[in-house]
Amino acid sequence: MSHRALHLAARPDGTPKDSDFEMHVSESAALAEGQIRVAVKFLSIDPAMRVWMSEQKSYWPPVGLGEVMRSAGIGEIVESRNEKFPVGAWVSGMTGAQDELVSDGKGMQRFDASRLPHPGWALSVFGATGLTAYFGLLEIGAAKAGEVVVISAASGAVGSAAVQIARNLGCRVIGIAGGPQKCAYVKDELGADAVIDYKNEKVSEKLRGYCPDGIDVYFDNVGGEILDAVLKRLRLKARIVLCGGISQYNAGSDVRGPVNYLSLISARARMEGFVIIDYLHRSAEALAVMAPWAQAGKLGSKLDIVHGLDHFAEALRRLYDGKNFGKQLVKI
Ligand SMILES: NC(=O)c1ccc[n+]([C@@H]2O[C@H](COP(=O)([O-])OP(=O)(O)OC[C@H]3O[C@@H](n4cnc5c(N)ncnc54)[C@H](OP(=O)(O)O)[C@@H]3O)[C@@H](O)[C@H]2O)c1
Repeated sequence: MSHRALHLAARPDGTPKDSDFEMHVSESAALAEGQIRVAVKFLSIDPAMRVWMSEQKSYWPPVGLGEVMRSAGIGEIVESRNEKFPVGAWVSGMTGAQDELVSDGKGMQRFDASRLPHPGWALSVFGATGLTAYFGLLEIGAAKAGEVVVISAASGAVGSAAVQIARNLGCRVIGIAGGPQKCAYVKDELGADAVIDYKNEKVSEKLRGYCPDGIDVYFDNVGGEILDAVLKRLRLKARIVLCGGISQYNAGSDVRGPVNYLSLISARARMEGFVIIDYLHRSAEALAVMAPWAQAGKLGSKLDIVHGLDHFAEALRRLYDGKNFGKQLVKI
């Protein structure tokens, strides 16, 4: 049996290119006692991969040149010398961008794929993506019923979960997304009260109209100009959840910081970053709330699947071009 793995070949300059990766093919290794072999089925494609590929200081060390590209994934156990992980079980974890993983099971979580509408939900709404939306809104944003919550990249993986969770909490939700098709999805299918098409409308003007008394919580996935537009409309004691800044990830040393940050002073507001890895030990608590919402049809996930490990870089670029519509996965 052969093993295909995508290695980081170069640090990207701007948007990641195909040539930043190199495919390595080798013989599959034999298992030692306690090990499992996972046939990786789906990879989670995440905007932060661009950060992991660079030398930038982050919550995880950079992926080394020549190393297998870091990626979360799910797969099925096809060979086992570990009684806790039988053949046929599905697992999720940091599999790396490869078609098989040999592991001692540390960091791997078993899940029942047959209870999900699609196994990919373990990487989207019931994985780190959904947990990011949940803990970001509740712990950092402290969102409460009746409050005005604005969410950027609202049709995306984290954003779409955040819109639905905020609706389920009883908040008034304004989504921001690019283009009429994504905006219609955010309003008609996810249930946002209003939506702003940042590619075709003036965000500050629309925010003034939709939030005449200001914004209580802003769930920021994008940074840049949209963050600045929101900063001008904060309500007293507003909370800005710094989840991500995708508009700036390919900017290298030209990252644009917020110009209107002084509004935080007059609004006595708080802007706080967070990383989901600090909350993973509390997954069960979040899933106990989210699973009944999903069963009641009040929390779902759209998947956007690119086929083949060879198309990993292309799948990653889709995030920065806004071509993905839902959680971006690569099927192996
Ligand atoms: N803090 C954490 O622990 C954590 C965990 C997971 C993810 N995140 C962050 O959450 C954010 C969303 O991640 P995701 O996985 O859910 O991706 P996603 O939203 O599914 O995909 C990225 C979306 O970003 C939007 N976008 C791209 N360039 C943009 C720009 N210049 N201005 C405005 N919007 C832009 C695009 O939507 P449009 O077509 O609408 O432009 C695109 O579809 C990212 O910033 C990510 O880094 C943080």
